[in-house]
Amino acid sequence: MVNKPARPTDSLIGNDSWNIQLDTKGRLKHFLTIEGLGSEILTNILDTAESFANVNEQSVKKVPILRGKTIVNLFFEASTRTRTTFELAAKRLSADILNINISTSATSKGETLLDTLQNLQAMLCDMFIVRHSDSGAAHFIASHVAPHISVINAGDGRHAHPTQAMLDMFTIRRNKGDFGQLRVAIVGDLLHSRVARSQIHALNTLNTGDVRVIAPKTLIPTGIEDMGVSVFNDLEAGIRDADVIIMLRLQKERMLGALLPSEAEYYSQYGLTEERLRAAKDDAIVMHPGPINRGVEIESRVADGVRSVILDQVTYGIAVRMAVMSMVLGREPEQPGGDVT
Ligand code: NCD
Repeated sequence: MVNKPARPTDSLIGNDSWNIQLDTKGRLKHFLTIEGLGSEILTNILDTAESFANVNEQSVKKVPILRGKTIVNLFFEASTRTRTTFELAAKRLSADILNINISTSATSKGETLLDTLQNLQAMLCDMFIVRHSDSGAAHFIASHVAPHISVINAGDGRHAHPTQAMLDMFTIRRNKGDFGQLRVAIVGDLLHSRVARSQIHALNTLNTGDVRVIAPKTLIPTGIEDMGVSVFNDLEAGIRDADVIIMLRLQKERMLGALLPSEAEYYSQYGLTEERLRAAKDDAIVMHPGPINRGVEIESRVADGVRSVILDQVTYGIAVRMAVMSMVLGREPEQPGGDVT
């Protein structure tokens, strides 16, 4: 029997596109969104990442799992952490990886996305890792590639960033254990954050006790309560007794019009300072997907302080991306004719 995931209620990209990421046996073929995935798959990613975290601590940080596979990093938007940790993850799995620089590729000469893809396919690649400013870009690519190719979404517009959410879940589980007992507060530009959307889906699927979002009204998407979170406009009330605080960057590149009076005003009300952090539990951890803007959403003393796990998130990103890539590309091939069990 195929284990069908529950139909999600929240989507920026239309009806059934969420389920193209599973093969006929319910295994991950693409990794496009957390939406629609069950807790078994998410827990499997976290458990697999634990074993790769051990590999990353050895002096020889390499395993032969994806030897002979070719992976392409296709980044249409800026990236530091995500692109490089995907590259390191691929190398540690012994795959070959190509980095396509879009600003110097034929896209800048007017080639369409589909033509670029077809050319990369003709080079016999096995996986595309895609970052794009359009919500739904990774789904579009996944529905147009040859059947043997897998696609991983490395961030599409303000829609989803599933590997970031999973490395965040890994960081939370390592530091805090069982999600059921936790109060998690996500603070900042919820309106434009693909990271927050994916985190909320993951936290819900892993049955987190209390998920809160905190921002000025202009940065809260309409209907976010339907995702099962409680909404706060006051920072100290929102982080009160929190176990985990996740800070978000103001996504100025996605803001149309003036949503905020000024960065200084924002910092005065929503910046996480040492003083404000006292409202959370004594052992609360502070997270941020990066890049951080010091003095805009977070004080340096907090970003660099003992509660911060921001650089651990980066380290764990390698193991989590190794887990996802190995699960997606390491599947036994499907039998022609589909699932027979
Ligand atoms: C995030 C992104 O690109 O969505 N960064 C990341 O992948 N580490 C968050 C951001 O840009 O603020």
